[in-house]
Amino acid sequence: MPNPTIPDELICRLRHAERVAVLTGAGISAESGVPTFRDAVTGLWAHYRPEDLATPEAYARDPQLVWNWYQWRRGLVAQAQPNAGHMALAQLEARFPAWTLITQNVDNLHRRAGSRHVVALHGDIARTLCSVEGIEVADWPADGPVPPRCPHCGAGLRPGVVWFGEDLPHAAIDTAFRAAETCDVFLCVGTSTLVYPAAELPFVAHRHRACVVEINPDETPLSPVADYRLAGPAGVVLPALVEALAMADAVTGQA
Ligand code: OAD
Repeated sequence: MPNPTIPDELICRLRHAERVAVLTGAGISAESGVPTFRDAVTGLWAHYRPEDLATPEAYARDPQLVWNWYQWRRGLVAQAQPNAGHMALAQLEARFPAWTLITQNVDNLHRRAGSRHVVALHGDIARTLCSVEGIEVADWPADGPVPPRCPHCGAGLRPGVVWFGEDLPHAAIDTAFRAAETCDVFLCVGTSTLVYPAAELPFVAHRHRACVVEINPDETPLSPVADYRLAGPAGVVLPALVEALAMADAVTGQA
């Protein structure tokens, strides 16, 4: 795929930006081999309904199905490596005085790529919690019941992710909305902007007069209001953004 051209005025906006906020979704991990949710054929929801797998009711109804589905996803994530898109965001972090990387993803690939401050809105698939006490459980007998039981109270264990209908971590959501309200530039990468409250963030940034940039091969509900739409895979567009900034720095002799 040819390197996408990044508009000069966007480079200029970024070079003068002090505060940058980024929201990522499953699309940024697609090039690492982690399935997205809503892509028509490859998406996880192509074969299951969210209501059947990612809700407290689904877990209460069939804890073994839900546990096994997350074990399968954990296996995919464990084999995945951060891609050039994750690496590019990790590189950009050091450039801005105020950088807030907000992710809906639970695959921890941003941290593994070197991003130091990650606001994980939907939790971390690698964490396991007691479904009743909410405490973290680090290990369990491999040959025990499925799902495994909490060693303290005997309740079933669950993944440390946010399910539909559950509250997002309050501190994370407060940080995310404050960043969206105060940023100069908001990058929205690899998300269908369909699941709230995360999907509200780029619209909050837009209402607060930030420059909103959408990076996604497909159009989304955000596309009509984005100031820039960089149509392409994150693993190509984000490195091109880093390269364009570096070239502009070289021409002017300063970062
Ligand atoms: P989706 O699967 O809804 O959307 C993925 C988006 O990434 C789509 O708009 C794709 O066009 C785009 N995409 C695909 N490949 C891409 C690539 N290489 N580079 C950039 N974009 C690409 O996933 P999310 O928007 O993350 O929540 O879904 C939001 C939430 O819905 C998830 O966090 C999860 C899900 O249910 C919970 O489970 C609570």
